[in-house]
Amino acid sequence: MKTYRIAVIPGDGIGPEVINEGVKVLNKIAELDSSFEFDFTYFPWGCEFYTKHGKMMDDDGIDQLKDFAAIYLGAVGFPGVPDHISLWDLLLVIRKSFDQYVNLRPVQLLHGAHSALANVKNDEIDMLFIRENTEGEYAGAGDWLFKGQDNEVVLQNAVFSRKGTERIIRYAFEVAKREGKTLTSISKANALNYSMVFWDEVFEEVSLDYPEVKTASYLVDAAAMLMITDPKRFEIIVTSNLFGDILTDVGAAIAGGIGLAAGANINPERRYPSMFEPVHGSAPDIAGKGLSNPLATIWSASQMLDFFGYKEYGKAIASGIEELLSTKEFLTPDMGGTATTSEVGEKMVEILTSQIKRKVLG
Ligand SMILES: NC(=O)c1ccc[n+]([C@@H]2O[C@H](COP(=O)([O-])OP(=O)(O)OC[C@H]3O[C@@H](n4cnc5c(N)ncnc54)[C@H](O)[C@@H]3O)[C@@H](O)[C@H]2O)c1
Repeated sequence: MKTYRIAVIPGDGIGPEVINEGVKVLNKIAELDSSFEFDFTYFPWGCEFYTKHGKMMDDDGIDQLKDFAAIYLGAVGFPGVPDHISLWDLLLVIRKSFDQYVNLRPVQLLHGAHSALANVKNDEIDMLFIRENTEGEYAGAGDWLFKGQDNEVVLQNAVFSRKGTERIIRYAFEVAKREGKTLTSISKANALNYSMVFWDEVFEEVSLDYPEVKTASYLVDAAAMLMITDPKRFEIIVTSNLFGDILTDVGAAIAGGIGLAAGANINPERRYPSMFEPVHGSAPDIAGKGLSNPLATIWSASQMLDFFGYKEYGKAIASGIEELLSTKEFLTPDMGGTATTSEVGEKMVEILTSQIKRKVLG
């Protein structure tokens, strides 16, 4: 039997609640399959850890994580710890140290999900964001000079290396080619006269190697509008770290809400573990009340299964979520229901069990 060792970082706020449900789903799928199993190791890192130890993770945290098959993360951030510390000292350290330069965020309106857009059909919102995940605007390069003085100056530099830009664009072309879909590049070369002119040039260059892929290129402001007025024009999208971060929240709104938005941080070469997590944060406003929607975290478990090569289970989770949404009985309050976090998780396990048994029995 194959064993996948998974590092679990539940994190803060609703992180532990939603991760519990994702782990239930993964364990059930492994049990039903019986050719593989998961071995979960929990790490108590996050804001509570920070208040006790003055750091978000152990000093040798990256070393502790490096041999796992994957990392499953809930969310980090809690009032009392500045957000730039909780983000930079845990999540971004992991993404950068493990060269998880691809952030995959599906924006797909599942059947039964409620879009913020009126009169939109399910097949009109089906896109995959491929966001650069290790440099760009989130490179962390800058300075803070003359702090508190009249001449105070803050510099936040974006870093676009040729290697970093080319590899994310090439990855996106490969996905578009494999799936026979269009590829849209989103940038802002009119205003960002170095970084985004360079981005557009690299996109043009790489496109020459993929004549079969139909491409489009938009400025980020126009893209934000078009995602709302004409979402069907987008299939595969490649964009920078900051633009991808913002636009996928627009994506969440048009595809059923933040409770459904999932993300995978991938090291395509598999030299380091990849990390799977919901897009949402730790939602301190609802933490500990059993109100959080675990579906985004469960969806990110499906991305993990895809990554391990179990595409059929990845698909089963997506269609299981559709079945759950269409029954309308087991929805958390953010989706207009009254179910608790664990009731949704239990229902997903029940739906998947019957789906998978049906398939096995033919
Ligand atoms: N990947 C991450 O770990 C991550 C991402 C974003 C924000 N954060 C952190 O999370 C904290 C809160 O940030 P925020 O309020 O801007 O964003 P948030 O995503 O935590 O919450 C935004 C709103 O969405 C709701 N919400 C989020 N997830 C939900 C879920 N699963 N079910 C139901 N409702 C849900 C919340 O109740 C809140 O009203 C901050 O400390 C921030 O830095 C972490």
